[in-house]
Amino acid sequence: MGETGAELSAAIRRLKEERDALILSHYYQRPEIQDIADFIGDSLELSRRAATTAAKVLVFCGVHFMAETAAILSPEKVVLIPDPRAGCPLAEMITPEALRARKAELRGPVVVAYVNTTAAVKAESDIVCTSANAARVVRSLPPEKDILFVPDRNLGLYAAAQNPDRKIIFWDGYCPIHDQMRAEDILRAKQEHPAAEVIAHPECRPEVLALADKVASTSGMLRYALDSAAREFIVVTEEGLLHQLRRQNPEKKFHLASPRLVCPNMKRTTLDKVYRALRDLAPRVTVPEDVRERAVQAVERMLALG
Ligand code: 13P
Repeated sequence: MGETGAELSAAIRRLKEERDALILSHYYQRPEIQDIADFIGDSLELSRRAATTAAKVLVFCGVHFMAETAAILSPEKVVLIPDPRAGCPLAEMITPEALRARKAELRGPVVVAYVNTTAAVKAESDIVCTSANAARVVRSLPPEKDILFVPDRNLGLYAAAQNPDRKIIFWDGYCPIHDQMRAEDILRAKQEHPAAEVIAHPECRPEVLALADKVASTSGMLRYALDSAAREFIVVTEEGLLHQLRRQNPEKKFHLASPRLVCPNMKRTTLDKVYRALRDLAPRVTVPEDVRERAVQAVERMLALG
């Protein structure tokens, strides 16, 4: 298109009004995408916002399962994803067939599905959770039931540690970005920045979380950094979060624990693709109605927990 970023952003804003569209962005998006968004949030906040907005069109700047969750909650809306190749490798680590087979083996466990799953997997699950509420969702379930937690084993282990009275069976999935962090990475960062507090996402391995001062979802980390008396932080999540951390705390310092904390799928969204999605009302994300009807129950059970 050849336009500058500022021209593109202005064109997006105009088109957004014409289309009665809302731009939703996850915290891992590029700074310029976060800056044109109407709403930035973690997975839980984005689902809630998608469920309650009056806008006709949602442009979901995130990865595919996030746009799908919006389509599950708002089938009457046009849900757009600027780049349909923005997938989530964690969500691809479980299929509905494999989940059905495991449920049969375990003779009917309660299935908790992390929101990072396809609609078809949510349709096979009893309740959805996000990183912000995983422990709470587990606690809400009948204590006598076996719980199958899918697909993120690190988040499952974290939720289990806070619910030691529950019997939880884990799936062996993981986020390749968070799971690659090791205790050595954190120890090295702490050596470089001895005064810094460590804030980590629960998709990290237990050995990493054990070294953290705070474990939280992306918005939980933002709240913590704002409230903490510390002046410096080592951030153990995708680098996109640094944009809001720095914006909200200009006097504090934030160090990414490792330059490897970059999700290539989250970075697929560009201003140019957002512009084209609004112009063409495509690519659109839809969920077959029979899948949606089952998946929405699992999502709504989570949202009903408040
Ligand atoms: P949050 O729910 O913390 O935003 O995390 C989403 C995610 O996909 C982390 O990799």
